[in-house]
Amino acid sequence: MKTNKQWRLAARPAGLFKESDFSWREEPVPEISDGSVLVRVIYLSLDPTQKVWATTDSYLPAVPLGEVMRGGGVGVVERSRHPSFAPGDIVQGMFGWQLYAAVPAQTVNKLPKGIPLGAFLGVLGHIGLTAYFGLLDVGQPKEGDTLVVSAAAGAVGSLAGQIGKIKGCRVVGIAGGDEKCRWIREELGFDAAINYRAEKVADALKRECPEGIDIYFDNVGGEILEAALGWLKLHARIPMCGAISQYTAAEMRGPRNLSNLISRRAKIEGFLVSDYMPRAAEAIPKLLEWMNSGRLKFRLDIVDGLEQAPRAVNKLFEGTNLGKLAVKVSPEP
Ligand SMILES: NC(=O)c1ccc[n+]([C@@H]2O[C@H](COP(=O)([O-])OP(=O)(O)OC[C@H]3O[C@@H](n4cnc5c(N)ncnc54)[C@H](OP(=O)(O)O)[C@@H]3O)[C@@H](O)[C@H]2O)c1
Repeated sequence: MKTNKQWRLAARPAGLFKESDFSWREEPVPEISDGSVLVRVIYLSLDPTQKVWATTDSYLPAVPLGEVMRGGGVGVVERSRHPSFAPGDIVQGMFGWQLYAAVPAQTVNKLPKGIPLGAFLGVLGHIGLTAYFGLLDVGQPKEGDTLVVSAAAGAVGSLAGQIGKIKGCRVVGIAGGDEKCRWIREELGFDAAINYRAEKVADALKRECPEGIDIYFDNVGGEILEAALGWLKLHARIPMCGAISQYTAAEMRGPRNLSNLISRRAKIEGFLVSDYMPRAAEAIPKLLEWMNSGRLKFRLDIVDGLEQAPRAVNKLFEGTNLGKLAVKVSPEP
């Protein structure tokens, strides 16, 4: 009999995740009921929002203690009791931090063949859709706009910046470290990069965006958001995608200069990629075309083995991930 392996949430994490926030469980692979599929997980996506899910109720209820940790992923159908799915189908869904997931077929998305699976973790997955709709729908870029992106060498940020370039923006990225800054400038085509660990962001923004910022795509919140709010052009837009600097902070820090939005007649707007899922078919062909033509580059940071997940997830908060972070749970077919 096959064994399932799982990480269950054992405690509400404070600060970075600790291994003791999870418990490892091995148990028989579940049976499936009518209308369900059994998926063997291949890649588990690690996302900053998992810290929020583990900690508190937010746009989704907190993961209950004792339950399998929530997480999206890509897997292969091993058994099906639904006519639309057959063993061997490659699927995407919320499978959790485990090797096998029994899930209702309607919660699963069948993936086309012939595309590297890693693309569905990045450009063609929720990451690509976040960058696409966050920038284009919320940010409303116009040719010649100055776009600033934080966590710019990360999964969402690197794509948002490149989409900004495709739309004719001048793009300035903010990232932690010289190598990340080199990568976004020299390999992704950003116009400039600011290493926030090496210099004061407020000063660097004045140097790199002499006329101010039209769009600030915010992935981090906190002090960098405050610096961007201090250097907005009239009618600037701030798509608020994430606030990773706050997810592990002991105390939430708000920007002190929100009132600049008044004098700049500017707009800050939060968004969730899940709201855009019904419109995914609009974005995917464009993202695919840009990926295939080399205009949209991405990299993956794959950690081997489900056992590593509790340690690996902290790479997001320490800034040591180089690209979209995921765990390889089992081999590709
Ligand atoms: N709204 C939505 O629907 C949605 C969907 C997906 C993701 N998001 C958000 O998008 C953001 C990026 O997520 P991702 O999955 O693409 O992760 P990612 O950017 O690949 O990884 C996170 C990066 O954040 C940076 N970071 C960590 N702590 C920081 C701090 N205190 N100050 C500044 N930067 C910090 C690190 O890069 P450095 O080395 O540059 O510091 C790290 O590599 C997150 O805030 C996430 O919650 C939102």
